[in-house]
Amino acid sequence: MNIIDQRLFKDDTLKNKQITTDTVGDGKLIEGDTINALTKIDDDVVNVGVTSPPYNKQEKHKGWLVKNVVYDVYKDALPEPEYQQNQVNVLDEIYRTTVPGGSFFYNHKIRWNRGNMYHPMDWLRKTKWTVKQEIVWDRMIAGNIRGWRFWQVEERIYWLYKPIGDKLIGKELRSCDAKLTSIWRGVPEDGRKNPHPAPFPIWLPARVIISILEPDTQGTVLDPYIGSGTTAVAAKLLGHKYIGIDRSDAYLEMATDRLDNAQAEMSKIREEQGLHHVQGSFKDRKTKGKHVGKYRNTDDETNIIQPSLLER
Ligand SMILES: C[S@@+](CC[C@H](N)C(=O)[O-])C[C@H]1O[C@@H](n2cnc3c(N)ncnc32)[C@H](O)[C@@H]1O
Repeated sequence: MNIIDQRLFKDDTLKNKQITTDTVGDGKLIEGDTINALTKIDDDVVNVGVTSPPYNKQEKHKGWLVKNVVYDVYKDALPEPEYQQNQVNVLDEIYRTTVPGGSFFYNHKIRWNRGNMYHPMDWLRKTKWTVKQEIVWDRMIAGNIRGWRFWQVEERIYWLYKPIGDKLIGKELRSCDAKLTSIWRGVPEDGRKNPHPAPFPIWLPARVIISILEPDTQGTVLDPYIGSGTTAVAAKLLGHKYIGIDRSDAYLEMATDRLDNAQAEMSKIREEQGLHHVQGSFKDRKTKGKHVGKYRNTDDETNIIQPSLLER
């Protein structure tokens, strides 16, 4: 990796807890193993995080339609107990770096091995986090399809919360954000547009950041498996700082290029921002027979749930 500016670091060039609220600057990308790189971040620096870790899919056989996910420097195949313990350690280290009252959104999926189901809650309950919500990501398409089960088109996103003292719930979402439902519908990123094997569609980290951070206060957004940099680009375009970690030099170069050309992705951010909008008060909408939050069809054009995502 070329250190081309003050954004890119190898984790062994940084001291423990060297990245603080004051030293993070506009953002930092760290090349290294996630668990080790996280030790370079000080306590209580991160306001919100979002990530999709490697899933330990151990895929040996190609599916019917879709290619297996293959990372460039990493074989996604640990013994399952070791994988789960690593994820607990990573999540607890993220907890340390997150401010009390901060949140982390953890994208994962239900997996099976020889008929045994592995559910993300199996290890999430072993972490320090309060699990605030399970969101279903309806991707409308299945990966690596086989016929052992109905096509699994969904993944999960866990909203994890770091309480302030003994207050486990935290503050309410703004009504414009809370009107989005616990089912997020949108296809994965188009592989022809992003050569990373498993990138986020940018609306996903954008939705998290818009919903959790105050628009007029600059926060710090963490993605400890940043890949091609989608979370960092969303954070930058929304006016926040970012910290990204990945072990792949090549993916971090992609992230740097995207950050330099971030404006090209602004229209996707604007599209997501357009969904965080409530017209009129609850009472107003109820009187006029408009959408008030119940999941139902409506002829109110301005309140159809996630219209643009349905079109993707
Ligand atoms: C699902 S991808 C994340 C993609 C990202 N959300 C994006 O939009 O491009 C997981 C990433 O984790 C990285 N990775 C896997 N194991 C790692 C580890 N132990 N430490 C650091 N990075 C790791 C891989 O290189 C890969 O880029």
